[in-house]
Order: sequence, then structure tokens, then C-alpha cells
Amino acid sequence: MSLKWIKSDSSEQRTMDCYRSLNILAHAQLDEIDIGSLCGGQGICKGDRVQTRPEQRSLFSPPTAAELKYFSEDEIKKGWRLACQCWPTSDESEDQPEMEIFHSFPSQRL
Ligand code: FES
Repeated sequence: MSLKWIKSDSSEQRTMDCYRSLNILAHAQLDEIDIGSLCGGQGICKGDRVQTRPEQRSLFSPPTAAELKYFSEDEIKKGWRLACQCWPTSDESEDQPEMEIFHSFPSQRL
């Protein structure tokens, strides 16, 4: 399975291998995509907001307590996640659809 980063304005896309052992923040760091992580992945700073496709919910771990506290129910339904709190449920060895991650900071380069 692969993970596709899509810039919020859809002007850039990047695809990378996906690893179940890494959260989405770690995937970004592995591919040198700066999505913001002031607290080092503790679920505190909320700086690493990303959006996933709601119809791909089963491809990601369920929202954590930190995410349920931070996001509204509507935002959760729309696929908003904290990258440090979100893990893929499959990895590159499994035949799954491509996971799409929308970066929430359109001013940053992917
Ligand atoms: S890195 Fe701070 S909330 Fe995710």
C-alpha cells in the first residue's frame, strides 16, 4: 500500500511507501515533508493537522482521545486527524487502495 500526500490546493502530490509501524507524522518526516510538530508527536501542540478522505477511514487507526478532544465531531467525520496520532492499518506489503493525506498548510512546499 502507498500513501499519497496532496497539497491542500492540489497543486502538488507525492507518493511514498506506507509502513504500519509508523504514524503519519513519521511518514512525513521520512519523506522530509514539514507538516509541523512542535510537541514532538505528543498530541499536544495540534500543529500537525492533516485531512484524510472520510471514505478511507478504515485504512487508518481510529481517532485517539487527544484527537476526539481537539476536533469537533464534524471535523472527525470530514477526516481531520493529528498526524502524530494516526497510523495506517496496513503496510506496503498488503494490497490496499492508496491512502490519501491532504496537507493542511497550503503555504508550505511538499
Ligand atoms: S506533533 Fe504535536 S500534536 Fe502532533
